Amino acid sequence: MEQLLNSRARSIQISGIRKFFNEVAKYPDAISLTLGQPDFPTPLHVKEAAIQAIHNNQTVYSHNAGYEKLRKAATTFVNEKYDLQYNHQNEVIVTAGASEAIDITLRAILSEGDEVLLPAPVYPGYEPVITLCGAKAIYMDTTETAFKVTPDLVKEAITPKTKAIILPFPSNPTGVTLEDYELEALADYLSKQEIFVLSDEIYSELRYNGKHRSIATYEGMRDKTFVINGLSKSHSMTGWRIGFLFAPSNILQHVLKVHQYNVTCASTISQAAAIEALTNGKDDAALMRNEYNKRLQFCSMRLEQMGINFVKPNGAFYLFIPVLQFGLSSYQFALNLLRQEHIAVVPGDAFSTLGEGYIRISYAASLEQLEKGMNGLEKFIKTLC
Ligand SMILES: Cc1ncc(COP(=O)(O)O)c(C=O)c1O
Repeated sequence: MEQLLNSRARSIQISGIRKFFNEVAKYPDAISLTLGQPDFPTPLHVKEAAIQAIHNNQTVYSHNAGYEKLRKAATTFVNEKYDLQYNHQNEVIVTAGASEAIDITLRAILSEGDEVLLPAPVYPGYEPVITLCGAKAIYMDTTETAFKVTPDLVKEAITPKTKAIILPFPSNPTGVTLEDYELEALADYLSKQEIFVLSDEIYSELRYNGKHRSIATYEGMRDKTFVINGLSKSHSMTGWRIGFLFAPSNILQHVLKVHQYNVTCASTISQAAAIEALTNGKDDAALMRNEYNKRLQFCSMRLEQMGINFVKPNGAFYLFIPVLQFGLSSYQFALNLLRQEHIAVVPGDAFSTLGEGYIRISYAASLEQLEKGMNGLEKFIKTLC
């Protein structure tokens, strides 16, 4: 019966991260520096709001776009934090995580044969959705531009078939952010192009130096931009599945239909928790951010001592480290490190072929674990020199 399945569904691959996890599972004592989620618990006041919601019988469908109170809290939050202006009545949808926001946006805008520009190395959650839509992911190689997208890279990749560009900053897997002047240059170019922009800002609260800014705030950008955000990283709520999609109402009304026939609405219990997170927990991310920053400083110092030259991240909780000089593929490097030192990192090729030659280290792990991890990495590297 397999041959009867949709050929696009058959063609997409399980994520490279998942594949490597199957290897990691063989080493239960391994120090895992692979995590794509915060290692902090969800704040207590947020958890209590969800428990209260259950007792209050908030266990039935909400408005398709989400509770009005939550939409108001979300638009107020992004307004206060990032100066974004959206009407809570018709310019925001509460989604099942940022993942659903990505999915419904791409499904609402893409037609067969369209192209979508992606800066690579890149989060592996976009390409399969693009493929399922019958469209094509076009990678822009950012390995020579410190993992940043520049107008020149876009100019080289754009064609009449280009329907959208995805800008995921701060970036997973590189931790790189775009500075205001870089965003401005991009906005200046993109505002003149007839394409959509998907700005995935799920790590916006985890920026270390300077303040996060959204490309949608630049002149000419609001009308063509979908801003994607959520609570997975900012409030350590990956399992609650709450994301947000912001866009002008004339566009969003069509995406809302896709969302409606997909999930009806996001979990109402999680929505109640999200209201608490975005009203009484607006700065909950600060504590985690400070802790990540300490860990980033520690890992950076250790990697520099090992003589590794890497692009300094300014956001998220990842380091993307070149390993080409050690003469092994990313996968083999990660596999040998796991087998010899019982330390798990993600091979860079999980983030497109342009990630080959790198590994991703997540510092969503305790300082104690990171120290063990860095000691093991150092020992392993010495065996390769
Ligand atoms: C860049 C990026 N976008 C989106 C997501 C998905 O977020 P969510 O868990 O809210 O669906 C992730 C998760 O790791 C991510 O790294």
